[in-house]
Amino acid sequence: MQVFREKAPLIEAIQKVKSEGMSIGLVPTMGALHDGHLSLVDHATSSTDQVVVSIFVNPTQFDNKEDLEKYPRNLEKDIELLQTRFPDLWIFSPTATDLYGEVITSQVFNFDGLESVMEGKYRNGHFDGVGTVVKHLFDVVQPNKAFFGEKDYQQLQIIRKLVEQTASKVEIVGCPILREKSGLARSSRNERLTDEIREKAAFIYSTLKKAKNLFGTESADFVTNWVENEFQNQDKLNLEYFEIADADNLKKINEKEKGKKYRAFIAVYAENIRLIDNIALDN
Ligand code: PAJ
Repeated sequence: MQVFREKAPLIEAIQKVKSEGMSIGLVPTMGALHDGHLSLVDHATSSTDQVVVSIFVNPTQFDNKEDLEKYPRNLEKDIELLQTRFPDLWIFSPTATDLYGEVITSQVFNFDGLESVMEGKYRNGHFDGVGTVVKHLFDVVQPNKAFFGEKDYQQLQIIRKLVEQTASKVEIVGCPILREKSGLARSSRNERLTDEIREKAAFIYSTLKKAKNLFGTESADFVTNWVENEFQNQDKLNLEYFEIADADNLKKINEKEKGKKYRAFIAVYAENIRLIDNIALDN
């Protein structure tokens, strides 16, 4: 295990292993690692020779100062967790100025509308920040493959678009959502939930599963109304949005078309903690 706190030595090390014909896998994270992140590292280690996990709480993707300040940070714990399972890993944990340079700001992107729906609508500038930091990380690490979770499905589609638009050669690998026993999607934010709310938050996934079943026979509008109603009866869980969209371009569904892939997306405030989840729908 090697920990790089600056990009220069990492770039040098990467050039060396690449010149020896080895492939590089990148798993970008913001730390506070949990089994969801580790599952991405599992995928990466099984299909590339040298895996780099970046741990960087990216300031430009937060539209809410409090959320950025409260984001859990524990590098030592993260390193320990990775070390036991992945002794050959490289960790890249730069400072903001090392990664961005003196001006820490986002580039403004046009991702063909992917950035303006759902998370993009509710989190101003979020995907500009994500696109900017991932571009910087790709520039430094020059990975052959980069691994992203379907937990943040909209982010995954945006990164695919970024790669297409920049004619980058990085292969983007999407990995399935890892869940707690209760069905709640694993998230660094779950650490901030009280036991009571954590239990209640399992309602998010159980509702998604029921919505998936309903979508077999009912229209998207019917399912959406049904979900909205279900949340009206929940105290401490506030629905921000539930949306059924085309799984590729994320456009809100009009009418179901056979053979198209759809996905349901949800964002919920569990007290003051914002949680997101999604599920593939059969059609
Ligand atoms: P972060 O929230 O730390 O997530 C890092 C990666 O882990 C993302 O690709 C995310 O989708 C994946 N992930 C999180 N929870 C997961 C789960 N339960 N199952 C499977 N994968 C999961 O996403 C970010 O960081 C940032 O936006 C980043 C891409 C690092 C850019 O700053």
